[in-house]
Amino acid sequence: MSELQFAYSGNFSSSEEDALARALIDKAPEGITKVWLTTSGSTANESALKMARQYHLSRGNSQKTKVISRWHSYHGSTIGAMSLSGSGPRRRPYEPYLLDVPHVPPPDCYRCPWGARPESCALACADAFEKEILAVGSEYISAVMVEPVAGAPLGALVSPPGYLRRIRDICDRHDVLMIADEIVSGMCRTGEWFAVQHDDVVPDMLTLAKGLGGGYVPIGAVLLHDRINAVLEGAGVAVNHGESFTGHRIMGAAGQAVIEFIDTEGLADRVASKGPALEADLTKLTAHPLVGIVRGRGFLYGVELVKDKTERRPFSRDDKVSERVAEAAARRHVLFQTGNAGADGQDGDTIMIAPPYVTSDADLKQIVSVLSDALDEVAIEIEAGA
Ligand SMILES: Cc1ncc(COP(=O)(O)O)c(C=O)c1O
Repeated sequence: MSELQFAYSGNFSSSEEDALARALIDKAPEGITKVWLTTSGSTANESALKMARQYHLSRGNSQKTKVISRWHSYHGSTIGAMSLSGSGPRRRPYEPYLLDVPHVPPPDCYRCPWGARPESCALACADAFEKEILAVGSEYISAVMVEPVAGAPLGALVSPPGYLRRIRDICDRHDVLMIADEIVSGMCRTGEWFAVQHDDVVPDMLTLAKGLGGGYVPIGAVLLHDRINAVLEGAGVAVNHGESFTGHRIMGAAGQAVIEFIDTEGLADRVASKGPALEADLTKLTAHPLVGIVRGRGFLYGVELVKDKTERRPFSRDDKVSERVAEAAARRHVLFQTGNAGADGQDGDTIMIAPPYVTSDADLKQIVSVLSDALDEVAIEIEAGA
C-alpha cells in the first residue's frame, strides 16, 4: 500500500492482479483461462450477466438476453443479481425494478416438486431448465445460473448426482452458457477448490467472492472459460463494463495471500478430511424433533427446522424459529447464520454451519453440541407455547 495504493484498471494492470488471476486459473477446472476481478459477489454476477450478453452479441445472437435461474436462490443485492435471485422475501419489495428472469425449482430432494424419490429420480429438476429454454425459445436464452452447493436460503443444498452434468449438456445443446455461482461454495468451502469439481463439470463462467478475500478485503471474481474468452477477444470488443476498483491491486495481493495460506496450511485437505465427521455429527441432529434434514458438504451445512417432520411442513416465518435457535446458541458463544423462506418462498428456517477452515476438532464438536442445546431450549419453549 505504501508503494502504490491504486491504479485505475481501465488503464493499468498490476502484478498483484495478474498473480491472483494466475493463481485462480491454476486451481480452476481445465479450460478456465481468464479472470475478471470485482468488488463483491453481486458485481461478479452482474459482470457475468453482461459478459454472457457480450459473448452472444459477438456471435451475432442479439436476441439471447435472458438468463434462467432458480427459485429460493440468492445471487446478490444489485438489480441484475437480485433479478436472478429467487428468494421471495429479498425480491418482493423490489419486484417492480426487476428484470424478467425465468426461474425453475431447485433440486430439493426433501420436497421434490415432481414427487420423485432419490432411487427413482430421473432429474426432472435439471430437465426443468430445458423445458424453460424451450418454452421461452432457445434463441432468447443467454445463460443459466446455478449454485453447485447453495447458500443460505436453500440451506447448503447439494446438487444431486448427475444434476450439473445434465445442465451442462442442456446448455451445450441450446447454445446457452452455464454460470456457476460459487460465491459461497468456492475457495475450498466444500472440500474442493470449487464445488463443480466434485462433479467434474466445467462451467462457462464461475463467480467467486466471500472466501476469496478471506474476510480481509471486499472482492469478487468472474472466471471465464477459454471458449468465452476466445470469442470476446476474437471479436476485438472491449467489454464495456467495470467499476472504479475493478482489479484493485490491494485486493489482488490479499486474494493471493489467501490462496497461499490455504495451500501452505493444507486447508483444502483439512476441509475435505474433517468434513465427513462434521456431517456425521450434524446428521445425528435429525433425531431432534425440530430438525427436518441436514444438508451440505465439507465445511458448509444447513440444518432445516420444521414444524411437522412427517409432513415436512415449515414453521410460519412469524415464529422466527431459526432466529431464536441462533440467539440461544449465541448466548452459548457460538454464532450461526440463519437462512429463511427456502421451503416455499415464504416460510422455511435453516441454521447455517460454515466454520473457519482452521477450526479445531474440539471446536467442531462444540459447534454441534451448542446447536443441539440451543435446539433443545427452543423446542421446550415451543412445547410450552412460547
Ligand atoms: C450464493 C451467493 N451469491 C451472491 C452473493 C452476493 O455476494 P455479495 O454479498 O458479496 O455481493 C451471495 C451473498 O451472500 C451469495 O450467497
